Order: sequence, then structure tokens, then C-alpha cells
Amino acid sequence: MYKYIVRGGNKIEGRLSIRGAKNAILPIMAATILSESTSIIHNVPNISDVYMMIKILESIGCKVDYNDDTLVVDSSNINCKEIEEEYVRKMRSSIIIMGAMIGRLDYTKISHPGGCAIGSRPIDIHLKALKELGIRIEEESGFIKCYKDKMVGATIKLEFPSVGATENTILAAVLAKGTTKIYNAAREPEIEDLQNFLNAMGAKVKGAGTNYIEIDGVEKLHGVEHSVIPDRIAVGTYMIASVMTGGRLEVDRVIASHMEPISDKLRSAGCEIEYTKEGLKLKPPKIIQAIDLVRTSPHPGFPTDMQAQIMALMTVANGTSVFHETIFENRFMHCAELIKMGASIKYITENICMVKGVDKLYSASVRSTDLRGGASLVLAALTVNGETEISDIFHVERGYEDFENVLRGLGADINKIEEIEK
Ligand code: EPZ
Repeated sequence: MYKYIVRGGNKIEGRLSIRGAKNAILPIMAATILSESTSIIHNVPNISDVYMMIKILESIGCKVDYNDDTLVVDSSNINCKEIEEEYVRKMRSSIIIMGAMIGRLDYTKISHPGGCAIGSRPIDIHLKALKELGIRIEEESGFIKCYKDKMVGATIKLEFPSVGATENTILAAVLAKGTTKIYNAAREPEIEDLQNFLNAMGAKVKGAGTNYIEIDGVEKLHGVEHSVIPDRIAVGTYMIASVMTGGRLEVDRVIASHMEPISDKLRSAGCEIEYTKEGLKLKPPKIIQAIDLVRTSPHPGFPTDMQAQIMALMTVANGTSVFHETIFENRFMHCAELIKMGASIKYITENICMVKGVDKLYSASVRSTDLRGGASLVLAALTVNGETEISDIFHVERGYEDFENVLRGLGADINKIEEIEK
């Protein structure tokens, strides 16, 4: 196990180039199963979730090569119809493979992904949509068996704009007979990237990025070459690192429309953010202004995946902010760790809290509770004159490529060291 040692006080500033989005590459890797040929994917982030998805693809017979930022997936020979339980247990987002497997095969079996630190993460909306496409589903002793006796296009109304359920439905429907209409679809940019990948393979998907998506089923898909969109959440995380330490930041290759919900909030904290053809330029305020209300909501609302990071910013802002986490039922675990560093956070309910900015935080030994919570602790530590230890950083490495080296390249004094088992 490893931990970060952060000695704060330096400005985090300079120029940054961020690779592809974790939440785009994972469904795109699942989509490679739908063609009996080879796909080449560029701008793939070097993160542990990608390696886990590679293991899953190899376990069903795909040949996968990952070099530098390019992934080559040959899915011509799928020789296993079942996904090993250990993979799904280790990475619950692998449930996204279910839609692609049943899109290609007549049967698949996968274990229920179960919950994770931030919530129970049910998949009822996924399963209801697949059933409406004609898939027969049997659930027993923690496993899901899907049988494709027939699969016909259907009109599907998602009861919540679930990102994963939208993606699984698209992946299953691209090879179905007829047209599938998805109402109340999730609008996240990563779904648009999935649509673009699938259409390049020969699929007929339109509407991604809006709440209505239409898929005309086709007979066959072919391999394709594609480059993954930049990671808006990673970019937002590094932007906050600069704001918290008074650094100026330039980021290449951002897609402005993807960043808007995050930039809007940072502007209300006093930041100047300018988009140029190269990317974006951020100038921090002299005094960070508290944001009255941070309420997370599905895109184009403020992303839940940025809630912990912007809370770190608010712990040292001038004034008081109210946070309302509306997407996941347990996504405030970083609060207790931030409080250990001197943050003033009061719980109002289990998903509403009040953050009163303090002049400074203190170094402490804190623990990453989940991917974005861990990142928020590093951000907080960057402002502390002193040494902060952040343990269980495997959470952070799931979603941030080379986190400590990227921060070090921007001026941070951060080291990753092995935890001595007590
Ligand atoms: C995706 O998770 C992302 N993960 C999450 O990012 C992100 O936080 C989330 O979307 C919301 O934007 C990937 O893309 C790999 P949901 P997903 O289905 O698809 C409930 C990160 O930090 N729900 O939109 O699992 C669910 O319990 C991760 O990068 C049901 O009730 O999210 C949750 O409360 C964390 N039934 C809400 O919907 C279902 O069948 C949103 O979940 C499905 C979801």
C-alpha cells in the first residue's frame, strides 16, 4: 500500500496537458466487443481502471495491446461468455460490459457489481432497459444471466438519467433489430464520445448529449481508430489545485462546453477563466470567494465527481457554502478527513452540509475514502505549510494518471511512498 507525503505552500502553476477521460474510455473499451475486428484507441489514460478493463477483455478472448497512450483491441475471437466475478467486485463500473456482451452474444453472465464506498449503486435501471429490449434476465445468488432469444428495438424511459444505464442500453441496442428510443437519457459528454466511437464503427446512434437518444440497429460493426475526449474531471481537479495555491494554470486540449459547469462555479469563486484555441487559461483570485450553494446534478449540472474537490476549495474560502449531494447517498466521506485538517464543516443532513471557510488548514494524517475524496485531500494538503500524509491512495490512482508527478511538474512538493504495514 502507498501513501502521499505532501509539503504544502508552493504555488501549483504552469502548463498542463491531460489525457483521455476515465469515464469515456471504459464504455469505449466495452464497445470494442461489438465488432469482430480490431480497434485502435488513442489518448488512453494510464490509470488502474484501464488495466482492469484490459484484464476483462482478455478474459473473454480479446487480444489487447497497450503502449504509451494507444490501446489496440482485437475482438475477433470472443471465446468466453461469462465475466469473472473478481473483476466486477474490484471494479463495479465493469457492469458496462454487460450491454456490449449481450449485444454481441446470445448469452452472458456477470455478477452483480454491488455497492461501493459512495453508495449502494443499484443497477435496476440497467436491467429494466435490457428487459425492454427483449433480453431474458435471470438473477440468482448474486449473478445476472442474460439470454438474447431475440432483441428488438424498444422505447425506453429511464426513471433516472443514469450514465451507466444509458451506456449499457446503447451498447445492447446498436445491433438490435429495429429502432430504440431512450427518453430521459443521461447527457454526460462521455456518452457523446461513446456515440462517436460507435458511429465510426458503423452504428447509427444520434442524440447523445441530449436527453433523447435514438439508435437504429445495424447488422454488423467494424473496427475503428478513435481518440478519447479529455478528462473534464481531471482538468477541474488540477484547476482547483492552482486556485487553492494562487497559481496560474494553462491547460491544453480542453473542450470548453464540457468544462462549463465547473468553470461557472470557479468563476463565482472569483477565478478568471478564458478559453483559447489551445485550451484554457486560469487566473486565481487574490481572495477565494465562498460559493453560496454547490448542488450536484446530472450534466449539464454541476458534476458529483467534482463535489469533493470544490469542497476542499471552499474550506479555505472567504465565507460559507452549502453543499447538497443529490446523486450518491454517501459521498461526504472526505468531510471527516478535511475536518481533521482543520476544516469547518457542519452536517445538516446526510447529503447536505455547510462549509465555513477558515484562514488555514493544518497538516494531519488522513485517509483516502474514495477516488475523488482522496483527490480532495491532496488539494487541501497543497495549501498547508507542513507535512500531510494521505493513505490508501490506490483510490486516487484509479482515476488520475501519474497524479503525484503531474502535480510535481506544476510545483508541488509531493512524494509517493510505501506504507509500512503496522
Ligand atoms: C458514472 O457512474 C461515473 N462512472 C461516475 O464516476 C459518476 O459519478 C456517475 O456516472 C454520475 O455522473 C463511470 O462513468 C465509470 P449513475 P454510474 O448510474 O453510471 C442511481 C468517478 O468518480 N442508479 O449515473 O454508476 C445510482 O445509485 C465515478 O469517476 C440507480 O438507482 O452513475 C446513483 O445514485 C464515481 N439505479 C445515481 O443513479 C441504476 O440502475 C447515478 O448513478 C443506476 C443508477
